[in-house]
Amino acid sequence: MEKIQSTPHNSGKVGEIAERVLLPGDPLRAKFIAENFLEGAVQYNSVRAAYGFTGKYKGVPVSIQATGMGIPSFSIYVHELIHFYGAKKLIRVGTCGGMHEDLNLRDVVIAQGVSTDSSVVKNTLGDAVNFSLIADYDLLSKAVVNAKNLNLQVKVGNVICSDRFYNDYDDPDGVFGNGKTSLNERLVAHGILAVEMESAALYLLAAAAKVQSLAIFTVSDHLTKKLYCTAEERQTSFADMIKIALETVIE
Ligand code: HPA
Repeated sequence: MEKIQSTPHNSGKVGEIAERVLLPGDPLRAKFIAENFLEGAVQYNSVRAAYGFTGKYKGVPVSIQATGMGIPSFSIYVHELIHFYGAKKLIRVGTCGGMHEDLNLRDVVIAQGVSTDSSVVKNTLGDAVNFSLIADYDLLSKAVVNAKNLNLQVKVGNVICSDRFYNDYDDPDGVFGNGKTSLNERLVAHGILAVEMESAALYLLAAAAKVQSLAIFTVSDHLTKKLYCTAEERQTSFADMIKIALETVIE
């Protein structure tokens, strides 16, 4: 029998995907990154339109794999990248909803830590401990230096990874409210910068597999300021984040 070379979700063959991978949620953003930032990019996957490409950045092989939205979809691609394809450095490049008032549209946020309302951590580790989901320190410190070298501002801190895009966190009387302040307000009061939907899985899977991971975001909307990027702006206006991620993943 022949050795299985690909997975049900990814037609990339073992060896076609680099050890260094950028992880956008949106397949069209994966294509945009491959076409605009990599040399000689070749597409290895289109199953479920979760496009994947491998090319070179400054001579170093890098893959770009779309993951879809939310922890379950993201976890399938990242589990397979790590355990089937041998990925060792994984950087999520996504969007987030700004929560902290210091943030504005298109600001770049790096997740030093991730808090989550997802049960995925407890399903993995049990509920005796609230496990801290943290970035790989080496990637985090390099990303901060690379941002400085590129003359780009970044905000580094804790983000909330939510299982719901549409939540009732900002309803003071909702299930999570205490009647006085909404959960969103309390999260921001504890230093949470922004909300997104995948990075808890990235930091959890990377910790278990002893590989390096980091999550970088561009603020695409702001929850309290009620500001939104258009779909086109979301897809194409994230060059700052991509440059930081690529410079960091090749080191
Ligand atoms: N909520 C959750 N995830 C997001 C958001 C948001 O407002 N914006 C971009 N990703």
